[in-house]
Amino acid sequence: MATHKVVLIPGDGIGPELTQLTVKLFEAAEVPIEWVVVELGEPAIKKYGDPLPEEALETIKKYPVIFKGPLTTPVGGGYRSVNVRLRVELDTYAVVRPAKSLPVSWLYADVPRYKNVDLVIVREATEGLYSGIEHFVGKDKCAAESTMLITRKGSERIIRFAFEYAKKFNRKKVTAVHKANILKTTGGLWLEVFYEIAKNYPEIQAEDRIVDNMAMQMVLKPQEYDVMVMENLMGDVLSDLASGLIGGLGVAPSSNIGDKYAMFEPVHGSAPKYAGKWMANPTAQMLTGTLMLRYMGLEEKADLIEKAIFKTLNDAKKLTYDMARTLRNAGIADIEPVSNKEYTEEIIRNLKAMM
Ligand code: NAI
Repeated sequence: MATHKVVLIPGDGIGPELTQLTVKLFEAAEVPIEWVVVELGEPAIKKYGDPLPEEALETIKKYPVIFKGPLTTPVGGGYRSVNVRLRVELDTYAVVRPAKSLPVSWLYADVPRYKNVDLVIVREATEGLYSGIEHFVGKDKCAAESTMLITRKGSERIIRFAFEYAKKFNRKKVTAVHKANILKTTGGLWLEVFYEIAKNYPEIQAEDRIVDNMAMQMVLKPQEYDVMVMENLMGDVLSDLASGLIGGLGVAPSSNIGDKYAMFEPVHGSAPKYAGKWMANPTAQMLTGTLMLRYMGLEEKADLIEKAIFKTLNDAKKLTYDMARTLRNAGIADIEPVSNKEYTEEIIRNLKAMM
């Protein structure tokens, strides 16, 4: 099997430990990848005084596939999100977040209606309310403005992407999420473009929902939704909600797709309070890895790794703290959580038995 060169950005916070464990699992599965490690975020600030050094970006741009751990963004000030900047730099305009219930029944024992969720959030990643156009107004910061930028071109390509995704993966419906009742210009343009593009896909049902109603619908009847396309901030919020439906941030994978690059990272962030404690759940990072393997055409490896993960979760003997808590809350068992290293070792044991 040919070896693929893939950029590995370990990230910061819990990122380095989760990516390290995923790499170990991939090695156990004999995945033919050679990693090109690029440090960004806090380690890059320490070494180069810059969370996204120009040279690092140049290296990243040499390879089409990137595997990334989470990166911290300072709140309410400091540097602009490296995650958002990377998506813009690589023009990975589509954040694709599948939220599919895992084949692990105890995960949904508490809320059985979430055991058949299978929706995909397609979030625009280069404009919207995260376009970075913001400033204070007047003296002494008496007001502040952030601009929601919606362009016809940006909307067309993400909406077309959502319909093409639906077509490729045999999905039946695309729902446009918006706030066009209040944000009449940005939301209005978005909806106008949505229904123009939808005409080219008569075999796929097209509908729209106002974002606040959408949040409620997702909690009450997520099975009614399929592919959902939305602006940047709305996608950020609703994709965390979708992660909650399928078992939490510890198990939710994500990808950033463009025409030239594809970057794979979990939905969750760097969870700084757990950094270095080896207790955060690596499943989301690992399932993000299997999304990447499928994208690269390595389906067999992806299947094998997923099977080993699902067996470990179904056995429910060695689980990280978050999963152990879910098991306890469902009244099924009260087990002592293990470190993410021990959890990964258990997955590897199961994987080796399947090879
Ligand atoms: P977060 O996702 O890092 O953590 C929120 C909570 O979710 C944590 O306190 C923890 O209870 C739980 N959690 C997250 N990942 C987990 C895991 N793997 N296993 C078990 N529990 C897990 O979100 P938060 O606190 O809003 O952000 C922390 C930092 O991460 C911020 O600087 C934020 O900007 C950044 N961030 C980065 C992202 C990225 O790199 N793509 C995405 C989201 C946030």
